[in-house]
Amino acid sequence: MDQDVKQVLYTREQIAERVAQIGEALTQQYASVVERGEQVVLVSVLRGAALFMADLAREMDIPVEMDYIAISSYGSGAKSSGVVRMIKDVSSDISGKHVIIAEDILDSGLTLSYLLKNLASRGPASLTVVTLLRKQTRAQAQVECAHVGFECPDEFVVGYGLDYAERYRNLPYIGILKPEVYQ
Ligand code: XMP
Ligand code: MG
Repeated sequence: MDQDVKQVLYTREQIAERVAQIGEALTQQYASVVERGEQVVLVSVLRGAALFMADLAREMDIPVEMDYIAISSYGSGAKSSGVVRMIKDVSSDISGKHVIIAEDILDSGLTLSYLLKNLASRGPASLTVVTLLRKQTRAQAQVECAHVGFECPDEFVVGYGLDYAERYRNLPYIGILKPEVYQ
């Protein structure tokens, strides 16, 4: 797989360090909530953010529930279809809980805008977004993020959960895919 990557953006070590920082910050931010006996639920956006959430959860020193939602705005290719579709909903009731959405990458913002509206309608105690990557694009819907792992260039990136046509998710680092692979 390495030969298909033009440039490594974030190494395994850099990702681990950043995820640990975010986990520690969340632990502090939600400490009082946990003390009051309120529930915190991490919601990962499948499939890309599954790895990020799995690592993030282990960097959080508070009890958290883990749930999963599947949204699709991309086809199998490298270009967005512009259509957001829910493929799988969370398994448990989120009303009254503190929801932290863990996303892999914020690009146009369509996915997260849709998701925020959808989850907010169910009456969570709070709703925040944590994204590992935020693309530096011109056209991005306004989505407030509590934490951003890395501000990344506007290129098609793969690895650490991110795929191209379901490949490269298991790369331990994040890199820019060579355009000839998807063109
Ligand atoms: P939007 O545009 O809705 O996109 O913010 C978010 C979703 O699009 C996918 N995405 C990517 N996936 N490499 C990928 O593997 C990328 O460079 C990339 N850019 C966007 C991703 O699924 C994310 O959830
Ligand atoms: Mg994808």
